[in-house]
Amino acid sequence: MTTSREIRLASRPVGMPVAENFQIAACELAEPGPGEVLVHNKFMSVDPYMRGRMVDRASYVPPFAIGEVLQGGAIGVVAHSNAEGLKKGDIVSSMFGWREAFVAPAAALEKLDVPARVPMESFLGVLGMPGLTAWAGLMQIGKPKPGDVVFVSGAAGAVGSIVVQVAKLKGCTVVATAGSDEKCEWLKSVGVDHAINYRTCGDLLAAVQAAAPKGIDIYFDNVGGEHLEVAIEVARPFARLIECGMISAYNDTDPAPGPRNMIQIVGKSLTIRGFIVMEFAGLRGDFIAEVGGWIRSGKLKWQETVLEGIEQAPAAFIGLFEGKNTGKMLVKL
Ligand SMILES: NC(=O)c1ccc[n+]([C@@H]2O[C@H](COP(=O)([O-])OP(=O)(O)OC[C@H]3O[C@@H](n4cnc5c(N)ncnc54)[C@H](OP(=O)(O)O)[C@@H]3O)[C@@H](O)[C@H]2O)c1
Repeated sequence: MTTSREIRLASRPVGMPVAENFQIAACELAEPGPGEVLVHNKFMSVDPYMRGRMVDRASYVPPFAIGEVLQGGAIGVVAHSNAEGLKKGDIVSSMFGWREAFVAPAAALEKLDVPARVPMESFLGVLGMPGLTAWAGLMQIGKPKPGDVVFVSGAAGAVGSIVVQVAKLKGCTVVATAGSDEKCEWLKSVGVDHAINYRTCGDLLAAVQAAAPKGIDIYFDNVGGEHLEVAIEVARPFARLIECGMISAYNDTDPAPGPRNMIQIVGKSLTIRGFIVMEFAGLRGDFIAEVGGWIRSGKLKWQETVLEGIEQAPAAFIGLFEGKNTGKMLVKL
């Protein structure tokens, strides 16, 4: 018998999530049956989209149920295998969520071929879902051209920090916002042309206009709210606005008001296009080839913020809404 601890949803958050919305529990795992494996998780992902799944409403993924384990990405090591194709020691990616260990059919797991110089946890960040979101969203929807001015919000996070670097590698000028001076310094160190601390800059519109006096061609939105209104205001004709996320609204108890300047979408012929990363799952091979190449050649950098111990998962998750992370927020087990 293996004992595993797991984090369950105790209650649905109203507004900002709090520790009491989560519950840690221990459970005994059955022995793996035929075709099954026992996996010990090493890293778990906490992601902003999980906040939407805590609300009981229809969406592109079903809501979490009260009392059930929070599902999400994790990377683990096979501890025992009764399945062909997976052996003890193999590294696997799963969506079984916030648990120390689990038993599952091998068919529900993805075996990872982790290159020698890349840590396994990067498959939850730069080489995983956030990396694909950044690369595919920017390239497929934004279609950046050399010389374009790209505005990125939430730029020091898991997705944003890859977007800014891909845009630079494609020859663009990048204007980015983040929530601290330290984050802005890091963004400049990876090539961002203008990094704005949106918490202290005062007038965000004026700060973005000063950084991009001729306007922007692409906006990659992780934040929504005021940032989106600013992006519409500074957009050039035919600019592309990529709606990846709107984290500033995820804890709202009433719907946030829309941008007041939407009429400019007409006059400037703007394209505003949302997406969910699954749409681009078929491009994963191309993504790994291009982004993996930049990592190998040292052209693309990434950061992780790692909290240790499964009991830290709620704090890590809540920390996403407080800007506690630079790069990908992870929990190490
Ligand atoms: N469309 C998709 O398929 C897809 C896939 C993955 C992620 N996303 C979305 O992409 C965005 C980024 O996700 P991520 O995983 O990379 O998270 P992340 O950016 O690593 O973490 C969240 C960051 O958001 C910022 N933030 C929190 N509250 C904010 C607020 N009220 N106003 C402005 N910034 C705020 C914080 O940084 P600061 O210190 O800068 O405030 C925080 O570090 C999220 O909106 C997420 O939902 C979408």
